[in-house]
Amino acid sequence: MKPILWIDACIREGSRTRELALAYLEARGQAYQHLDLSSLDIKPINEARLKEREALLAKGAFDDEFFALARQFAEAEEIVISAPFYDGSFPSILKIYFENISVGGICFRYEGPRPVGLVAAKRLVYVYTSGGPLTHSDQAFPYIKTLCGGLYGIPNIIPLSAECLDIDGMDANAIFAQAKAHAKEIAKK
Ligand SMILES: Cc1cc2nc3c(=O)[nH]c(=O)nc-3n(C[C@H](O)[C@H](O)[C@H](O)COP(=O)(O)O)c2cc1C
Repeated sequence: MKPILWIDACIREGSRTRELALAYLEARGQAYQHLDLSSLDIKPINEARLKEREALLAKGAFDDEFFALARQFAEAEEIVISAPFYDGSFPSILKIYFENISVGGICFRYEGPRPVGLVAAKRLVYVYTSGGPLTHSDQAFPYIKTLCGGLYGIPNIIPLSAECLDIDGMDANAIFAQAKAHAKEIAKK
């Protein structure tokens, strides 16, 4: 069994989102590989990188170092993503990561207009915490479902969250304890 791939987009030392992800991983009881996005040298797509990628894909060089992160994601058997809720979504480092792994022929391909996912993982847990309550128009989890479920083909995408941690008068400790209990429940399934 491969280690769980933990993609960590948490920013702060003392991050509660990271703590919640760790509670889940400990309860899951499997080895994991920690990919701390802030410590990676990943860059957003620009014209030069897009051309480089297209040239490599045109000659079928899927095993090039350029695609190492994409191959790692596609080959993982189980994935955890942790990301605090920032500005209605997640921190930009996670979007940059997706720009780097979203490679046709590695994470997905198309059959006519229909995307076919190529990612091996059957399960992805998306861990987030937020200062306030989320609304239906917030973008983080729907984006993850669309991309990782709809395009990459991961069938089981599970949210694990603690919301309203920064609201005066709310009991953040109690909310967080409840989220940790939920992490244990999810880990058993
Ligand atoms: C740059 C920044 C943007 C934030 N944007 C939002 C937001 O749009 N909505 C919200 O409810 N909380 C927002 N928050 C609060 C965080 O989501 C909340 O404090 C979260 O628990 C931080 O996670 P962490 O402890 O893992 O860093 C923001 C915090 C920061 C620092």
